[in-house]
Amino acid sequence: MTSENFLDLPPLLSAQGTVRLPGSKSISNRVLLLAALSEGATEVRDLLHSDDTARMLDALRTLGVAVELLGDNALRPDSGQAYRVTGCGGTFPVKEAKLFIGNAGTAFRPLTAALALAGGRYELSGVPRMHERPIGDLVDALRQLGAGIRYLGNEGFPPLEIFPAKLSGALVQVRGDVSSQFLTGLLMALPLLDRTVRIEVVGELISKPYIGITLAMMARFGVAVERQEWQSFVVSGGQRYRSPGTVYVEGDASSASYFLAAGAVGGGPVRVEGVGRDSVQGDVRFAEALEKMGARITMGPNWMECERAMPEASSIFQPSSCGGASAPEPGRLKAIDLDCNHIPDAAMTLAVAALFADGTTTLRNIASWRVKETDRIAAMATELRKLGAAVEEGADYLRITPPYAVRGELVEPPAISYVETVHPSTGSGRTVLLHATIDTYDDHRMAMCFSLAAFGGAGVRIADPGCVAKTFPDYFERFARVVRAVPVIAIDGPSASGKGTVAQLVAKALGFRFLDSGALYRLLALAAQQRGVPLEAENRLAELAANLDARFDESGAWLDGAPVGDELRSEQCADMASKVAALPAVRAALLDKQRAFRRAPGLVADGRDMGSVVFRDAALKVFLNASAEARAERRYKQLIEKGMSANIASLLQEVRARDERDSRRSVAPLQLAPGAGLLDTTDLTIEQAVQEVLARYRTVR
Ligand code: DC
Repeated sequence: MTSENFLDLPPLLSAQGTVRLPGSKSISNRVLLLAALSEGATEVRDLLHSDDTARMLDALRTLGVAVELLGDNALRPDSGQAYRVTGCGGTFPVKEAKLFIGNAGTAFRPLTAALALAGGRYELSGVPRMHERPIGDLVDALRQLGAGIRYLGNEGFPPLEIFPAKLSGALVQVRGDVSSQFLTGLLMALPLLDRTVRIEVVGELISKPYIGITLAMMARFGVAVERQEWQSFVVSGGQRYRSPGTVYVEGDASSASYFLAAGAVGGGPVRVEGVGRDSVQGDVRFAEALEKMGARITMGPNWMECERAMPEASSIFQPSSCGGASAPEPGRLKAIDLDCNHIPDAAMTLAVAALFADGTTTLRNIASWRVKETDRIAAMATELRKLGAAVEEGADYLRITPPYAVRGELVEPPAISYVETVHPSTGSGRTVLLHATIDTYDDHRMAMCFSLAAFGGAGVRIADPGCVAKTFPDYFERFARVVRAVPVIAIDGPSASGKGTVAQLVAKALGFRFLDSGALYRLLALAAQQRGVPLEAENRLAELAANLDARFDESGAWLDGAPVGDELRSEQCADMASKVAALPAVRAALLDKQRAFRRAPGLVADGRDMGSVVFRDAALKVFLNASAEARAERRYKQLIEKGMSANIASLLQEVRARDERDSRRSVAPLQLAPGAGLLDTTDLTIEQAVQEVLARYRTVR
């Protein structure tokens, strides 16, 4: 992973909207294999398009199964892919093959079982993590039926070699307490044997709802399984898989969990389409867990909706006294203590939702997390701690206490060097979670569930966001469509255009925070001067910028803990600032500090590249301008008011020279940012300019 490989999610205010879910991974890969083993052709519609299904499709093609992408996909761009799979009637045409199955457990386990009973010679391998995920229990079970399987690496783990052997036996015992995929694999493969076989589960069967999906899909393809409790399963001989014609894949219930939780944390309502009351997927029961946490859930046959139950939810953000925030503020959920055995994947989402709860949440019976894409218990604990939570990690449980509950109060931003502003009307700018870079361990679900941390006030950085391709390639785009980021109004313009004054007054009117980015460059210049750092020493200045101890409050600016007086506004300081601001490394070093000003309920940012670089997603970008003559006159009045002597002609000359210099600058030149609207203030009073900006903001929010 390169250091640039990350995605910054801005602080989020709220969530609302509708998402059509991608197809279920579990159903997609089961249906593909069953269709391949069937007699007749099956049209599989709404298939999940992801790495895991791609591995299954590749494997089936390698085994000689005809798999054809149907041409009418373009008609249903949002609903996955459609394939025609021509079944092989239980006998794969290719009898010898090497299959690479990546990290797709839902492909590896069932293919192992099906190929072990197929009478050919096959090699199955995957990525290094796949070779750390146990498969011994499945191999042991298949060997009881006489299958020939050899470990090519470590005993009990992939890669595997399968060779022809005489199959026999009518009773198989399989462990159920490591992964339910072993039982799923066995169940789906048994109809290939043409005789009655009984499976007995040893130990408590985990993730039972996934076995429910397997049985439902087998039934769709004409094979009935007799089930006695969750302890024994009988597949009678003489049953063959037959194509049901067309199969529509349900939306992915685990993927639904992120959006439903966004509705709970971010206000909602958020609706997911593709799963609902009639779903065969056990993970829909995640909704019950959210209800326990205080969310309100409504359901239809194939949709679910979640919103935060408002009355008791107390706001964790300080309210804005000016009423500038239009969106509901994220509220606290209720802490829960839950056995999550039935919703192992979706329960990861609960772990992150627990950051917004009113106390300690305990998720129990999740030992299977340790053998998933990564050791999810360890990974989850490590990353939650980065956000400031206290986490207790057990062999099969997690106990999560949100940051504010750890200290009994809201948590302040991490370090004094963190640039912080205090606006009189927005309180002290407290945040709920610390800003952190979340490592994702090549685990799609780590990346997706931590997107919820962006509701914690400071935004979040997700490393290696592309790992979501395993099950949900466009997750972040869809997430972005239902969330509302803390709004930014970016204001730029030439000097004496009135931008600083207008920006401050707009911030005040809305109860937003205010960032005077020019003042940051000025403070850096002063810091450099105090330390004797030459204004051309780019790297040293960048280092100084990265560690700048700068702060603003009602009384003014602070540097290294001491107040900065009028020198900040002097011409000499402006000159030095313009030199340091021209250095790309300095600008880069100040980027995160400037972004840290973005806090609920909103930010007005004043300066050169606010709309074009720092806050590209700003809700409103305004470029204030005025004729050079008007600006020279404004400056003249200011100087006279201060009792200084001034000459209007030379001021006009200065203004023109500065405009010329500023617009030609190679780094961050003064120009209209893409998407910025011009506001000519030549004939406007400050108050009129402020009203105009506010009117424009009302049209975009
Ligand atoms: O707005 P001001 O005069 O306080 O800005 C001081 C200097 O910093 C000026 O040369 C413009 C520069 N600047 C910048 O390059 N980018 C910003 N976002 C803000 C100011």
